[in-house]
Amino acid sequence: MSITNFPGSASSSPLDSNITKVTMPALAEMKRQGKPISALTAYDYATARLVDESGIDMVLVGDSLAMVVMGQENTLAVTVDEMLHHTRAVRRAVRRALVVADMPFGSYHGSVAEGLANAVRFVKEAGAEAVKIEGARASLVQALTDAEIPVVGHLGLTPQSVHRMGGYRVQAKTTDAAQQIKTDAKALQDAGAGLLVLEGIPREVAAEITAELTIPTIGIGAGPDCDGQILVFHDMVNLSFAPKAKFARRYADAAELFRTAIDHYREDVEHRAFPSDEESYHLPSAVKKELQAEREELEPLKRLRKA
Ligand code: KIV
Repeated sequence: MSITNFPGSASSSPLDSNITKVTMPALAEMKRQGKPISALTAYDYATARLVDESGIDMVLVGDSLAMVVMGQENTLAVTVDEMLHHTRAVRRAVRRALVVADMPFGSYHGSVAEGLANAVRFVKEAGAEAVKIEGARASLVQALTDAEIPVVGHLGLTPQSVHRMGGYRVQAKTTDAAQQIKTDAKALQDAGAGLLVLEGIPREVAAEITAELTIPTIGIGAGPDCDGQILVFHDMVNLSFAPKAKFARRYADAAELFRTAIDHYREDVEHRAFPSDEESYHLPSAVKKELQAEREELEPLKRLRKA
């Protein structure tokens, strides 16, 4: 697009001029104005559409998809190609929210150059508007920022560190650890991160970080004082087949809803109650009459053959 026809107004979505696209600067402005930021994960077109149409500000294609979509034990095995596949589906659905892609384990843990190359794939091949990386990786955040890729940092209980942490445990519970996470948060901000996810840390520590940073914090299991909140979609609607975490409020029971629908469908098929005549396609009446006439013409011949 030439800058001579760049819309320039707040309504800059290429898909719908009535929609004000959420951008990283727009989220920073929400923090300045004290407006809470809503975020949810999504992994496919249908749920991403519902999430976006509800007015959620940020959609994260989280590597949690390894667990809630692919049924794996943790997030470690999901690949860049798998994440790209889901990010593309989400991108097609979302018109308003900021679309953030999670960089999977191993895709940025080697060199900065490798992390940068993988992040570029998320922007170029899947339409991500920002990437999320776990841990205190200021030099990578700096390189991505220099390459014009908006970055979401992620500190605290970082699921890709499950083996180092010895399980999914609340982090930053000691004075030293609380101090360290505050230092890390500031370093990520200084390196250019535009947002910071804080997961599984005491409310008090999250509140301090939120007050100290100028970029928005998005909490998950980090208390109500963050600038925004995120939940895993499947946890929120009871589709994750896992014990409920303390912070994961359930807003609906989709498992129950789907189970009931599936049971009714199966029973209807077993009792030949589905499909009905109204749910069937029919021949045009002229064709039906022709076929009937043909059958009647052939009937005497058939009877003769049988005799
Ligand atoms: O992968 C994910 O869903 C996440 C959120 C929990 C923040 O990283």
